Amino acid sequence: MRRRWLIATSVTSGVAGIATAVPFAESLWPSAAARAAGAPVNVDISGLSAGTMMTVAWRGKPVFIVNRTDPMLASVRAADPFVADPRTAHPFSMPLPEYCNNEYRSRAEHRNLLVMLGVCTHLGCTPRPRFQPGAQPGLPDDWPGGFLCPCHGSTYDLAGRVFKDKPAPQNLDVPRYRFDSSFSVIIGADERGEA
Ligand code: FES
Repeated sequence: MRRRWLIATSVTSGVAGIATAVPFAESLWPSAAARAAGAPVNVDISGLSAGTMMTVAWRGKPVFIVNRTDPMLASVRAADPFVADPRTAHPFSMPLPEYCNNEYRSRAEHRNLLVMLGVCTHLGCTPRPRFQPGAQPGLPDDWPGGFLCPCHGSTYDLAGRVFKDKPAPQNLDVPRYRFDSSFSVIIGADERGEA
């Protein structure tokens, strides 16, 4: 079952592919730790329509890419008072990239696109999308849309921020990433080089 999210992507093998687009010396020489952890993945998002998501694998973990609509972004703003850590002051297993330190937890050039790890910060299950607002099984009547972890009921908003008083202690992780074009995103690398 865990393999269902292993949608194939092309792996950026390296150094050459990144170096042509990112003229920083550090991108030419990823650290030993980065090389050991796994290469970035280059994901074609041209077919990702508004209001849908896709899941890819990076470093053995699922990464969600969500193409949020304007109402979905509005629901993120509306969720601010109800999430435990609105500005991700206490990230889980990796720092929130500085370019995602904003209300949508996404890059300004594509603020609608959310990129985050699909690993619940409680005990590591994969949360499920529950984008439809409103009452439905396992969710409150005023559900704004987001994600539900099937294991112990933690819920996250459409920016991956955990709602208050849930088993999960922290927001879903946002990896470093950048856009290669309007239609492709590289997960695990940004202007600073490989994550
Ligand atoms: Fe997600 Fe426990 S693993 S709520």
